[in-house]
Amino acid sequence: MSDEFYRIKRMPPYVIAEVNAMRHAARQAGRDIIDLGMGNPDQPPPQHVIDKLCEVAQKPTAHGYSQSKGIPGLRRAQAKYYERRFGVELDPEREVVVTMGSKEGLSSMATAISAPGDVILAPSPAYPIHTYGFMIAGATIRSVPTTPDEHYWKALDNAMAYTVPRPTVLVVNYPSNPTAETVDLDFYERLVAWAKRNEVWVLSDLAYSELYYDGKPTRSILEVPGAKDVAVEFTSMSKTFSMAGWRIGFCVGNQKLIAALTRVKSYLDYGAFTPVQAAACAALNGPEDVVAENRARYQSRRDVMVESFTRAGWEIPTPPASMFTWAKLPPGFEDMGSLEFSKKLLQEAEVAVAAGVGFGEEGEGYVRIAMVENEQRIRQAARNIKKFLTDNAR
Ligand SMILES: Cc1ncc(COP(=O)(O)O)c(C=O)c1O
Repeated sequence: MSDEFYRIKRMPPYVIAEVNAMRHAARQAGRDIIDLGMGNPDQPPPQHVIDKLCEVAQKPTAHGYSQSKGIPGLRRAQAKYYERRFGVELDPEREVVVTMGSKEGLSSMATAISAPGDVILAPSPAYPIHTYGFMIAGATIRSVPTTPDEHYWKALDNAMAYTVPRPTVLVVNYPSNPTAETVDLDFYERLVAWAKRNEVWVLSDLAYSELYYDGKPTRSILEVPGAKDVAVEFTSMSKTFSMAGWRIGFCVGNQKLIAALTRVKSYLDYGAFTPVQAAACAALNGPEDVVAENRARYQSRRDVMVESFTRAGWEIPTPPASMFTWAKLPPGFEDMGSLEFSKKLLQEAEVAVAAGVGFGEEGEGYVRIAMVENEQRIRQAARNIKKFLTDNAR
């Protein structure tokens, strides 16, 4: 009997897991690691959301199987959010599905719409599910750049001209994880026109919809008239309301794609625990100042990180959105490779970051630094890094 399982063979070891294991071992050994590795929010959700979860969990009727596509109230709340925030109208019955986190939504969508041998266009560097969701489903990835400049459009056109079979799906993710790059509405207008011309579905991952800075709100692809003909968009409660462990996200937009996702999900799951969905409604329908406070906290951390790391001798970019900065390896370490650098930084400076190579080949030479510790800890990380750079000066 063979243990060469078709899907397992397509999954290399999760690079990020290697550094995570080292971080875990260092912590077990009593070392105080400042963890800027994973994009795992360190704050709790708003109190009224936790209260709602507890209240609904007390109901004897709340403990059965829930609805795979999400309870109607939550689908309506998401439709209202799109209307309020982006001016986009959605039919909660046919154009909204609740997912168990956007990661599950993306992977179930990959299962729903791709066949072995299909070619999918996905960015590199990328959040791993953008590629592996499809590879697990048996599809093939053709990488396109993440940076949304003229090379991007050229790469898309080349991909259509030279790939056999023709690509069927394009994944986009702005604000980008890991690069934090953003786009404006002009980009999405051009993208929708391109997708229609080339008959390609677009999956837009807008997980960082509310983590934007300097007063420049992120845009949705669905703001483009006619975008629903070719696109769906994924959003998440994880970062907006610090509910990462609750596993609630959404997919909205094109009815055919939503129907395909809903169908696959109806075979795979019964939806999130009803009290979790009810609490997610309370979050979406509740006061918006909690979202603004969350954003302000990340912006302030961002400013502290950029200022203190730069003073420590490592110039890092100022991200316009997301919870990450995407930094080149500091001077003197360029040739080390991002994985080795991340391990060394963990061992010698007690700071965990995510190796860029974990996000694809194009991520080599970079690390992703998450703003998931408080300002005092970020300053401590900068002090440790300063010493690390001095000790390792060549
Ligand atoms: C770009 C992007 N998409 C999706 C996700 C997954 O989020 P969720 O918790 O909704 O599954 C993340 C999580 O970090 C992300 O960065």
